[in-house]
Amino acid sequence: MNDNIYHKSVMIDEVIASLKPSDNEVYVDCTVGAGGHSKNILDTAKCRVIGIDKDPEAISICKELQKVYADRFSLTEGTFGNIKEIVNSVGINFVNGIFLDLGVSSMQLTSPERGFSFQYNSPLDMRMNKRGEKAYDLINSVNENSLADIIFRYGEERKSRKIAKEIVKKRKVKKISTTSELSEIITSVVRFKHSKIHPATKTFQALRIYLNDELKELYKVLVASEELLTQGGRLVVIAFHSLEDRIVKNFIRYNSVSNKKYDILKPESSFVYESRKVIRPSREEIELNKRARSARLRCAFRSSSSLDRNHHMNHNFQKYGGV
Ligand SMILES: C[S@@+](CC[C@H](N)C(=O)[O-])C[C@H]1O[C@@H](n2cnc3c(N)ncnc32)[C@H](O)[C@@H]1O
Repeated sequence: MNDNIYHKSVMIDEVIASLKPSDNEVYVDCTVGAGGHSKNILDTAKCRVIGIDKDPEAISICKELQKVYADRFSLTEGTFGNIKEIVNSVGINFVNGIFLDLGVSSMQLTSPERGFSFQYNSPLDMRMNKRGEKAYDLINSVNENSLADIIFRYGEERKSRKIAKEIVKKRKVKKISTTSELSEIITSVVRFKHSKIHPATKTFQALRIYLNDELKELYKVLVASEELLTQGGRLVVIAFHSLEDRIVKNFIRYNSVSNKKYDILKPESSFVYESRKVIRPSREEIELNKRARSARLRCAFRSSSSLDRNHHMNHNFQKYGGV
């Protein structure tokens, strides 16, 4: 069911088919948001869900849902990069599934005061956890070269140098305080003409990814999943842009074998994949929910292999395409 008033969850059927919730098992919803996916997992089986979100507002919204499922649903405000500590802190060492629905929620995007979107005129913020450096601090203090690098690296914006130059020019006259001011500066440099998306889209994405350390967080949770998932436990990830999807794809590629070659008695790697093909939302879903159009789901399950003490050494952020 997809009737949440705060956020329409994407690919619910595909998530359930990939995660395969079963009675008495434990799942971690690392991006609980408005709780849509958690609710569907909890309704599919008499299982337990540990919900994590770094946004205190998401946690408060989910408190209502927690009343319905009581001891089957727990909530932790924290980052999924710390999944192991969070899960261990509730007395659990292994789980049967880990789910991630990456990026921002509709609540975050459509709350003007959060400053995530150029569609509203609001203060430059963009912090998911409401702590630390704001987009305002970054835009008004970082030097031109570093700003250009951030916009290029995390937004894949070809006009990054020109945008950074214009930002630095404008902020010398007056500090840039709002999303609209920033969006106007970008639009003066990147023309709408040849692009299907708003000229500010890539720069806003870049600032958000950088400020919330999104790619490193993703890397950390993937590495931790190897330790936390029990044999047969499933890792299911929905990504919304190529920077994230590349890390998920490479993590699975480097650490898994096909289920056709998987020998449970002689496992060659930590994970097993059923298909290398990414799962996309149906056309019907995209028609009903525009946000679903860029969603890409990948999954794998934990093999019977045990980990040696140095298993962390097998992983490397850059090897998986991290930038
Ligand atoms: C797309 S929304 C999830 C929506 C949710 N699946 C639902 O059905 O309502 C992504 C959520 O992940 C959270 N998030 C993003 N990065 C995070 C991180 N590193 N740790 C914890 N939560 C994170 C965001 O705050 C946001 O609430």
